[in-house]
Amino acid sequence: MNDAKKRQDEDFVLEARGITKNFGGLRALDNVDFSLRRGEVMGLVGDNGAGKSTLIKILTGVYPADAGEILLERQPVTLRSRQHAKSLGIEAVYQDLALVDTLEASANVFLGSEISNPLLGMQFLDNAKMRTEALNLLKNKLNIQLGSNRKAPVFNLSGGQKQSVAIGRAIYREHIKILVMDEPTAALGPEETEKTLHLIRTLRDHGIPVIVIAHNLEHVFAVSERITVLRRGRMVGVRSTAESSKTEILGLIIGAEEKEVVPSSGKA
Ligand SMILES: Nc1ncnc2c1ncn2[C@@H]1O[C@H](COP(=O)(O)OP(=O)(O)OP(=O)(O)O)[C@@H](O)[C@H]1O
Ligand SMILES: [Mg+2]
Repeated sequence: MNDAKKRQDEDFVLEARGITKNFGGLRALDNVDFSLRRGEVMGLVGDNGAGKSTLIKILTGVYPADAGEILLERQPVTLRSRQHAKSLGIEAVYQDLALVDTLEASANVFLGSEISNPLLGMQFLDNAKMRTEALNLLKNKLNIQLGSNRKAPVFNLSGGQKQSVAIGRAIYREHIKILVMDEPTAALGPEETEKTLHLIRTLRDHGIPVIVIAHNLEHVFAVSERITVLRRGRMVGVRSTAESSKTEILGLIIGAEEKEVVPSSGKA
């Protein structure tokens, strides 16, 4: 192995090898390899049902794999649960964002790890401190200002603001190593999409490698360094974004180079 290649290999923050996952009789993932380098955004693409969400659920501890191994910073790990993956610095923002609509942004950022002060033998939530810390985090790390919405319940926030609150919650812990986002732009308008893509680049620039699933190849090309393509549960290609094209990626997604055998209709 030459030195340049070796250095690149040493830059992997996450590697998955030979991941296989069955749901009953259905093989959702078949011997999938995947890697994420330090300081990169990796796009994960594929048609509906290709296995994208299943793969990231395995990489975030939601499901165990039936076969294969995962290396975090070159050490083999068994991700026992979502909580366990979080404790190792693997954070995720799922499509539904999982915010509590009736709570304000800062309370959502600190959900499950609230700051409290002891007083007369009891713990009281330090709302002022949480608000200051959360708003500072959003402003300094993500360049997001909530303005008049800073104390409002998050159901009043725009889609893009909600997205940034969900990201804020994922990244505020110091030890975050990887952020995974499943379709962050799916429900957003053009302006908010632009902001979210900018946010992803900001995270990368802060040294947080990001895995992004998206159907829209414009978005993937706007934000990623590399792209992994899944097709019917198989990994069919990894490309450097700068050296690839939407046509090439689309070809991999739909399997354009393969000869399809179309079953005749009417027979089950
Ligand atoms: N919990 C589950 N139980 C049974 N089958 C599942 C489960 N989750 C996913 N599958 C199946 O596994 C396959 C891969 O699904 P997955 O959700 O990973 O695809 P995807 O690439 O994320 O698709 P989409 O773009 O539609 O979100 C599909 O055939 C799906 O129906
Ligand atoms: Mg999915």
